[in-house]
Amino acid sequence: MSTIKLLNIVGARPQIIKSSAISRAIRTGFSDRITGLTVHTGQHYDKELSDVFFDELEIPMPDFNLGVGSARHGRQTAAMIAGIEDVLIEQKPDGVLLYGDTNSTLAGAVAASKQRFPIVHIEAGLRSFNKTMPEEINRIMCDHVSTLLFAPTNAAFKNLMHEGFSPENSPPYTIDNPKIYITGDIMYDNSLYYAEMAERKKAGLLESLEIERNNFVLATIHRDINTDDAGRLERIMSTVKALAEDYRIPFVIPFHPRTMKSLKSGLVSLLADLRKSRYIRIIPPVSYLTMTYLEKNCLMIMTDSGGVQKESHFFRKPCIVLRKETEWIELVTNGTVILADADPALIHQAFEGFVQPDINLDYPGFYGDGKTSEFILREILMLFEN
Ligand code: UD1
Ligand code: UDP
Repeated sequence: MSTIKLLNIVGARPQIIKSSAISRAIRTGFSDRITGLTVHTGQHYDKELSDVFFDELEIPMPDFNLGVGSARHGRQTAAMIAGIEDVLIEQKPDGVLLYGDTNSTLAGAVAASKQRFPIVHIEAGLRSFNKTMPEEINRIMCDHVSTLLFAPTNAAFKNLMHEGFSPENSPPYTIDNPKIYITGDIMYDNSLYYAEMAERKKAGLLESLEIERNNFVLATIHRDINTDDAGRLERIMSTVKALAEDYRIPFVIPFHPRTMKSLKSGLVSLLADLRKSRYIRIIPPVSYLTMTYLEKNCLMIMTDSGGVQKESHFFRKPCIVLRKETEWIELVTNGTVILADADPALIHQAFEGFVQPDINLDYPGFYGDGKTSEFILREILMLFEN
């Protein structure tokens, strides 16, 4: 039996976490048939956005680090494309694995498709229908040069069909004859795998933050629409402060460095007020196990993150999303995610609804059986072994 070589491309926090589900599945069930190599583009470079996940989630260290760092989109993506192209030419993998919708995903899609390496896109088909989001452009472009497209939800699968992908294609699959799948979500695999470990390893965390189980709100804010628009950021953070103080409920907020930079540059007095409030805990970005523990034990989540809103569902917590739209539309239909944009009145209304003690919410299994990574690897083997 021959072994196939897959090149994983990661760069931003959520991709590193996603890749751990695939590397774990290779290690535990496919190591005799699949070799994984990893390129880290260097899009995220701070320890708490990158190294911490390799250490904690036992992900093999990247074989290549392009060290691209932060820059405007064009420059950043161009540097990644050049670096990935060099690795592809040197390594000649059988296929390239791309995750999600960041600039690292787009760079991998351009480099691999031009060099004619088949692309496997994990988290295909998600759409916000808002092309002012850089992620929307990245995901559309990546899907349209992929050979195997793994859509995590029914909605994502339907989006692909609307864009002309056919579920009827038969092998051999190529960039011109791609195969679309509906799978679950590899992040659900991760949450199931790490939930119990988080509970064990992070006991004591609540005491150190002076918060109580099921009596704090976990909030994250990092999307450019919120960080790069001082008006939106000001409205969101003032509303957080008002809710925390009116309801006397602590908010734990692990800030992405981007958000902290925006507060420090344009909203200094608001930042000082937030820091003074006895109900606000502003902390640096946390590790995945810490985040999992906080998600599992909070009362409610408030976020503009894609990954975190889904994790709210995995841990059966209501979630207020600080955007106008979401790619995970089934959560909104289900009533457990409310889109409140950066609108104080909508945020207040959603919060008031979710904080009711007799609230009855349902969390159906939208995201697979926790074995999506294995399914994906089996399908990849079929492509390359036939
Ligand atoms: C990126 C993704 C976004 C994803 C997020 C996950 C794109 C276009 N965006 O957004 O989809 O949700 O990652 O967290 O790919 N910075 C640091 N330290 C770092 C990295 C970044 O301080 O290690 C700061 C820099 O000021 C940088 C800014 O964050 O300019 C933005 O970084 P960038 O990688 O461009 O985008 P993210 O906002 O992190
Ligand atoms: N996350 C983390 N620490 C944090 C914030 C988020 O480990 O301080 C994890 C979170 O649990 C989820 C992933 O990062 O698994 C989501 O990444 P992010 O919100 O940065 O990006 P998005 O999903 O919006 O692209």
